Parts: sequence; structure tokens; C-alpha cells
Amino acid sequence: MQAIKPILRWAGSKQRLLPSLSARCPRVFNKYYEPFAGSAVLFFHLDPRRAMLADVNPDLINFYRVLKRDPDSLHELVSNISVGERAYLRIRKRFAEESDPKLRAGYFWYLNRNCFNGLYRTNRDGYFNVPLGKKLPPMPSIDHARACAKRLRKASLRASDYEKVIGEATDGDFIYVDPPYRRASSRDRGEYGPGAMEDADLHRLMSALQKASDRGALILFSYNADVSAHLPGWRHEIVNGRYLISADPQRRRPISEYTSYNYSLEARL
Ligand SMILES: C[S@@+](CC[C@H](N)C(=O)[O-])C[C@H]1O[C@@H](n2cnc3c(N)ncnc32)[C@H](O)[C@@H]1O
Repeated sequence: MQAIKPILRWAGSKQRLLPSLSARCPRVFNKYYEPFAGSAVLFFHLDPRRAMLADVNPDLINFYRVLKRDPDSLHELVSNISVGERAYLRIRKRFAEESDPKLRAGYFWYLNRNCFNGLYRTNRDGYFNVPLGKKLPPMPSIDHARACAKRLRKASLRASDYEKVIGEATDGDFIYVDPPYRRASSRDRGEYGPGAMEDADLHRLMSALQKASDRGALILFSYNADVSAHLPGWRHEIVNGRYLISADPQRRRPISEYTSYNYSLEARL
């Protein structure tokens, strides 16, 4: 397995936690499920034989679909757009109006590369409204785009709420569950756009996980709060310190990352 980095910048990306997470994955499983895909760090790292990647954000899933089919022309489209504030604002406006899936995917990728902190935030009307970022990373190479597309060809992609996706996993499947963090204050909300899970939804998620666990699915759950009371009999560990994303450096406070899993690492499948 050759590790590759994800192609998107994403709030809550698990890049820095990857060593801790991959050490806790089951070695053998049937189908891989990632119902809160985002930049899908663990998926791109594990390169599973069969997978389902899903997210409530339809533009994210559209981007992966177009990348999977035709990484070369998507890469060319984005590489040909100039950078800078004027171009950024023009593309942000076009993104709000465009209906062609390929162009939308290109604009989405461009905005993701150039926006502040790789956030996906929308206004009340559902339009992407993140400002231009600073210190932007370079455009991913064409080889990187092709490598991601190759891995995506083993995955089905779905724009969906998590519950239905988790409901499909069965005996021997592996689900990696990485929902939006629990928020300390209402100012932290809103980095994932319309339909994103709220704290109050945690009980619905816990119930979906417990049912999948009863069906024999192997589940790894990561979160910024202790859920051991909701998942009795699972293993629960604090894995690392991370920083909560915030525009205000004063508010980038360290948080703990918890993992819970329902299988034994010693006796993997
Ligand atoms: C913490 S991020 C996932 C990060 C990902 N593991 C990575 O490495 O980039 C949470 C993701 O959940 C998605 N999301 C929020 N509410 C959702 C819902 N109800 N159903 C499915 N996905 C949801 C967001 O769009 C976001 O991409």
C-alpha cells in the first residue's frame, strides 16, 4: 500500500491523526464505509478494495465523481484559472450560478485551494461565502490527482445523510465515523454548510452505530468528546492533542481527540 495525501483541504481533516487512526484499524475487512468523508484522509491512506464514501455536502461528492472520471481535464480546468482576489471573487460568484457538474467540480476545487483554511461555509441562502485565504498551498500535481482518481474508482460515492449509509454496513464491513466536532460555543458552528450534523443529533448517530455493531460491522469512531457512556462494551482511548479551527488565533484552543472502537486489536479478523 502506497500512502497518498488527500486532494482537498478540509476542516477537521484527520491528516495529523492518521498514524493513531491507522494503528487502530482492523487489518482485514470486507467493504469500507466512510459516511462523513470530507477529505477522506483514512480512505486515501488505506486504499480499500471496495468502499462507500458519503457526505451530506453534494458539491464535495460531485467533485469526487468528476475527479474519479476525468482527473486530467479537471486538473487542467483549475490550473488555468488565475489566482488572486479578483479571480477568486469571480469564481465564487460563478460557483453560485453554475449547474454543469464538471464546471462546478472545477470551481469547488479552485475555491477549496484558495479559500481561508479550506473551510466550506455558506450563507443563509446556501451560497459559499468563505473569503480568500493566505499562505495557500500549491496546486496538487496531475500525478496526485490521477492517483486519487485511481483510488476513487474502487469507491461508490453518495451525497447523503450518514444514517442511511451506516444502515447499509453489515457483518465484517469496516465503518470509519468522523462527524463534525461537538462545539464549545455557537460561534464555532457552520463550517460544513446546509444539513450538517448538530450536537443534538448525537443520539441518532449513537443509535445507528449500535445497530451496525449488532449486525457485525467493525466501527472506528473519532470525536472531540467522550462518548463511552453511549457505547458500553467498546474500547475508548484519547489519542492526541489537536487544535480547533478558528479565524481568531486566540481561539485556536487545544482539544482532545477520542477514539472508540468495537473490535479487539489483538484478535483482528
Ligand atoms: C470532521 S469532517 C470529516 C473529516 C474527514 N475524516 C477528513 O479526514 O477530512 C465531518 C464531515 O461530515 C460531514 N457531515 C456533516 N453532517 C453530516 C451528515 N448529517 N451526514 C453526512 N455527513 C455529514 C461534513 O460535510 C464534513 O465533511
